[in-house]
Amino acid sequence: MPVAQFAVFGHPISHSLSPQIHKAFAQQFGIMLEYRAIDAAPEAFEMVAREFFAAGGRGANVTLPHKAAAFALADERSVSATRAGTANVLTPLTNGRLAAHNTDGDGMVRDLTERHDVDLRGHDALLLGAGGAARGVAWHLLDAGVDALTIVNRSPEAADALADAIGEPGRVHTRYWEDLDNIGSYDLIVNATSAGVLGVSLQLPFSLLASRALCYDLSYGHAASSFLAWAKTAGARYAFDGLGMLVETAADAFELWHGERPDTNPVYQLLRKQTA
Ligand code: ATR
Repeated sequence: MPVAQFAVFGHPISHSLSPQIHKAFAQQFGIMLEYRAIDAAPEAFEMVAREFFAAGGRGANVTLPHKAAAFALADERSVSATRAGTANVLTPLTNGRLAAHNTDGDGMVRDLTERHDVDLRGHDALLLGAGGAARGVAWHLLDAGVDALTIVNRSPEAADALADAIGEPGRVHTRYWEDLDNIGSYDLIVNATSAGVLGVSLQLPFSLLASRALCYDLSYGHAASSFLAWAKTAGARYAFDGLGMLVETAADAFELWHGERPDTNPVYQLLRKQTA
């Protein structure tokens, strides 16, 4: 029997940790699989993804810049994917149809609550950014019990659109990026902008941090370093990158495909050492 084929699609994709994560999870259960990183330019993504599934591909992760396109090409969509308008997991259904999931929000919340032992209930949260990544986590922060969520985005229209989509005006507010100096302080600050990935340092005021604040960057490695350095200098109690989220989101995809829940901790510890 041919080995089951899995892949992650992105552009660029050569540094993706997903193949290593999925192979390590598979080893925990003695599952044989091949998991490749496939570089697809935006205009080629749909064709390459459809070819992959037509050739028998059993599941794919999708990362930047294809998450919205992955959502668009699917025939069925999970609640999280529908809320976010983006997908990070594609799974084949019958007759060439595809299902889209978005496991980012669940992955982030599990990383915070289970790995880092943080109780999110009662937090006054600030979400920086209103693009695909922010949409992937906003509802989950609210579901995890944050008291209030303030969304600030460089372009205010996107922040307003996200707040409108959530539809909880009593809990969700938007403010202008230009007003960051004057909007007070928060005890949870989540960086969901792509500034770090693009090599740009956000210029954020220290006044955003309440005492003992928790700061979280959805990216990891070099992309997260500037925000985390700012958080530590500003006196954050915790400053976490999104490496744990990556491993947790992968575990959700793995469970969707294989029906088994992997132990994420050994894989997280290994990657943490490698990326140190
Ligand atoms: P992703 O899927 O990573 O969220 P995206 O949907 O393109 O990518 O969204 C990128 C987010 O990062 C947006 O919120 C963007 O702000 P705009 O909507 O104003 O473009 C934000 N962003 C990117 N570069 C930024 C920068 N230098 N300063 C502030 N926000 C930035």
